[in-house]
Amino acid sequence: MGCRHQITPKEQKVYLKRVLTGMRTTGSLHLGHYVGALKQWKEIQDTGEYECFFLLADVQALTTHADHPELLTKSVREVVLDWLSVGLDPNLPHVHFVLQSQVPERHELSVLLSMIARYKEVLRNPTLKTELRTQQDATVGFMAYPVDQAADIYMVSPQPGSESELLVPVGRDQSPHLEFANSLARRFNKKYGLVFVPCTALVGKLGRLVGIDGMTKMSKSLNNAINLSDDRKTVEESVRRMFTDPKRVRADIPGDTRNNPVFIYHRAFNADKAQVRDLGRLYRAGRVGDVEVKRKLAKALNDFLDPIRQRRLQYESVDVRGILEEGTWAARKACQPVVERVRELMHLSYPGG
Ligand code: TRP
Repeated sequence: MGCRHQITPKEQKVYLKRVLTGMRTTGSLHLGHYVGALKQWKEIQDTGEYECFFLLADVQALTTHADHPELLTKSVREVVLDWLSVGLDPNLPHVHFVLQSQVPERHELSVLLSMIARYKEVLRNPTLKTELRTQQDATVGFMAYPVDQAADIYMVSPQPGSESELLVPVGRDQSPHLEFANSLARRFNKKYGLVFVPCTALVGKLGRLVGIDGMTKMSKSLNNAINLSDDRKTVEESVRRMFTDPKRVRADIPGDTRNNPVFIYHRAFNADKAQVRDLGRLYRAGRVGDVEVKRKLAKALNDFLDPIRQRRLQYESVDVRGILEEGTWAARKACQPVVERVRELMHLSYPGG
């Protein structure tokens, strides 16, 4: 990105209520991201009560994608377009899209926090433990990512005070990281002096969306995702491939709607709630076929995605670089006083050089 452009900060106002949350930039976003995160981010943005920092975690993406760095540049653009298309709006004065790698103050904070982060505590982190199972050759960067993520959060810590708040909307799997971040911040405050406002987790109530194969998680790598940028035909095709109730080999056999991906999606995305209720009743009675239920789902999903697609078209020639420069600048401005104070308290500022 560099600093070639003149950056015009949107507003000088200092907010005491801030939101920071992020996503790793490893590819296009899908319906699972929408249900688990983006829907809630947009709602918080629209309250106008918080200064929102939405982080594109391109450094954290390297914890698993160091062999494919070329993927990152492309993914950053895709994620920005996906965010814009669901209505996150960096034109608003209180909304910033931040590119993690371009905030040097954050890297510094990460190193300094790592000095008081307990290795054993990291090893006990259940999310990290689960992820380690699929990491043949975990790097030091990977093992340290909970600390690095704490730096993401605390880089925008507002001044401590009764009005201050640092809110982190995340999926349930991220809770251990936030607990860890909080214990780190508390330890710092106690050891050196009050700098950080403990963060508050806002865990989405909708939880995780199953894949079209019914696997617990929708994910690009499992090839079971419907992307926010998929066209109508692709969505229809994915719905055709979708798993239903495996025990129901004929349409006149009463079917299960509870753990059935097709009905899970109907409940999550179909705006016509009466239709979902009716279809459910018929399905459980063995009076409607999978084909019919799927046809209605494909339509419902496409109706849901249409406004997202339209917004995406409007943004096609948007200045992604400009958006990121402004947002990243805002994060740097927020982080500078924090890291300065941390340096001071850790006896690392040397006035007079
Ligand atoms: N670990 C998060 C994920 O994989 C992404 C992330 C990076 C994040 N930094 C963050 C989330 C800070 C919340 C706060 O989804």
